[in-house]
Amino acid sequence: MNGILTHSFDALVIGAGAAGLFYAARAGEAGLRVLVIDHAAKPAEKVRISGGGRCNFTNIHTRPENFISENPHFAKSALARFTPQDFIDRLARHDITWHEKTLGQLFCDGRSAAIIDMLVGELRETSGELQLDTSVGEISRTADGFRVETSGGIIETRRLVIASGGLSIPKMGASGLAYDVARQFGHTIIDPRPALVPFVFEGRDKSDFASISGLACPVTARSERAAFEEAMLFTHRGLSGPAILQISSYWAEGEPIRLDLLAGLDAGERLKAFKADHPRKSFASAMETILPNRLVSLLTLRGDIPDMPRMADMSHSAIDNVVEDLSNWTIKPAGTEGWRTAEVTAGGVDTAGLSSSTLESRRVPGLYFIGECVDVTGWLGGYNFQWTWSSAFAAAQA
Ligand code: FDA
Repeated sequence: MNGILTHSFDALVIGAGAAGLFYAARAGEAGLRVLVIDHAAKPAEKVRISGGGRCNFTNIHTRPENFISENPHFAKSALARFTPQDFIDRLARHDITWHEKTLGQLFCDGRSAAIIDMLVGELRETSGELQLDTSVGEISRTADGFRVETSGGIIETRRLVIASGGLSIPKMGASGLAYDVARQFGHTIIDPRPALVPFVFEGRDKSDFASISGLACPVTARSERAAFEEAMLFTHRGLSGPAILQISSYWAEGEPIRLDLLAGLDAGERLKAFKADHPRKSFASAMETILPNRLVSLLTLRGDIPDMPRMADMSHSAIDNVVEDLSNWTIKPAGTEGWRTAEVTAGGVDTAGLSSSTLESRRVPGLYFIGECVDVTGWLGGYNFQWTWSSAFAAAQA
């Protein structure tokens, strides 16, 4: 690390992602001299790849219930003070147009790069500085702030804002810096775990699911704590798709997941009507009027659907039993695809040590944690970016 004293700032932000850049512009507007540093060569790379390149930047239905945290009340204050509409208004000022895709999810009409340009542009407009390719060394307290050794020199700052994200996607520069800094200053960490991540399976399940990889169907995915009615996708390694990613955030190692394969399909009534109309057709052909053929074949092979040549031989109670079983199809993942593909990190800096209105450390005045590094994890669908905007805004108002 370079030992020369280079600069002093009102605020030093570590991490030029969505949270760090948004904080810097808001703090700059409030008159602070801000420097943002990042070890990556480009800012906000996750914004660039998000939403399939069109950044699902918020969700209009955002409520505190859409977030997972040891303290479910923590996010309320920040979310109330900077809402999805506030972010939409900001996009309008930059002529960034958008559309709602589904379930309140808002995407850019153009590329995600428009949001990065907005974030970096606002930083520059407020005279903020951005220093990329810069690694962070020792951090210590001074009489009126912090001293941070970096590969670009020593920086002295009154406020230190940690916006370095979580552990997901290490090849994009994810690091545990936020947790190291938090521990250094006496904070506790809620065990970080991969979230919004596909499940992998072993043995028979793995080969079964691989045999129909690429097939998608609507399901309700359930764990002990939540339920999501969305699409599921069979993959070479197991299961993915929105319903699976959502439930993965609530899943703990070793737990089964329950899938309702017949959600909203009125299957019992339809199968009984089919029996009345086609008593000589097979049960599998009846199921094929409800589920994709390849899934019906697989479920028959696995014994989840009875291999009954004539519907006439299926009693109504036998039909009800199959419907019940497929509505509670219970399978046990071997694990998840892990940090390599997890969209976010659940867990992180314990909110018990932070102010919910300013995200400032309760232990060390002037130290802030914002964005994904905090133990607040949104559902799939724009909620995570809304948390980055809201938490950054709250910290900048402090
Ligand atoms: P983020 O990780 O974005 O930024 C942290 C920054 O800190 C990075 O620039 C990194 O290089 C830097 N850094 C890390 N360690 C450092 C160190 N030691 N020294 C210096 N710098 C360091 N969410 C959503 O709401 N809608 C969506 O459409 C998507 N889509 C999506 C797709 C994919 C593929 C992924 C992986 C994730 C999403 N997300 C998402 C989640 C969303 O990207 C995520 O919640 C935010 O980017 C978090 O923003 P932060 O600024 O907190 O961290």
